[in-house]
Amino acid sequence: MTYKKQFETEGYLILENFNTEAACDGLMKRSEELTRSFDYTGHPSVFQTSEQARTSDDYFLDSGDKISFFFEKDAFESNGKLKNDLFHSLNKIGHALHDLDPVFNAFSRSAQLQELAKDLEMENHLLIQSMHILKHAKIGGVVDIHQDASFLYTEPESCVGFWFALEDATIENGCLWAKPGGHQTKLRSWFHRKQGGGTQFTELDPEPFSMEGMIPLEVKKGACIVLNGLLPHYSLPNTSGISRQAYAIHTISSEAYYPEINWLQRDKTQLTGF
Ligand code: FE2
Repeated sequence: MTYKKQFETEGYLILENFNTEAACDGLMKRSEELTRSFDYTGHPSVFQTSEQARTSDDYFLDSGDKISFFFEKDAFESNGKLKNDLFHSLNKIGHALHDLDPVFNAFSRSAQLQELAKDLEMENHLLIQSMHILKHAKIGGVVDIHQDASFLYTEPESCVGFWFALEDATIENGCLWAKPGGHQTKLRSWFHRKQGGGTQFTELDPEPFSMEGMIPLEVKKGACIVLNGLLPHYSLPNTSGISRQAYAIHTISSEAYYPEINWLQRDKTQLTGF
């Protein structure tokens, strides 16, 4: 079966040994370097994934064209001090790493990724968002079940995610979970900017997500997982002592309509493909 056929049938693809260990190490090292330049005095931004608690502050909404840093919700003591060092307090870094940083740019537009995009007939896709997901040992938070297309809504639906394991992802340290063929469903919600400020979810389909048939997508460091934007997926908190860093890129079709009220806004002249 070709990659394209398999992707259409399953809603996701797992490609082991996609990136070298050195490339993964280089990316993790680069994020530690970038974090050293982050002065969080005065504007800590907590990124939480449950719908009720999702932050809607300006720091988040302005992060589309920047390299911004988001904390784990349990990163701080009650007195406002960090429990761990700065890097090990972060939930993620995003959302334009792939366009602004040379190390992330090279990783995001590698020869093997260009080849894969060609196999999947995604030459017209634009890299709209990237994030380094830290999921550090003991503190890495849950990511509730969701469809990526809710956060990168287009008409017609066109979102495809590329998730790269920078370290081994196992059940123990909070790997992704999804159901084969689970993308054959409707988009449940649309996360967008609210008139007057902030963000909201608009319900598009009331059917709850089914957890039946979900399987753990355990992969080795270097693997690439391609995710259809409609595929419901989630990950559990990392309660283990083993770190689970990953890097994700999200793409949309250049031919699809991208609403101006989507939460993530980019300078459209800066958007390019693989
Ligand atoms: Fe996701």
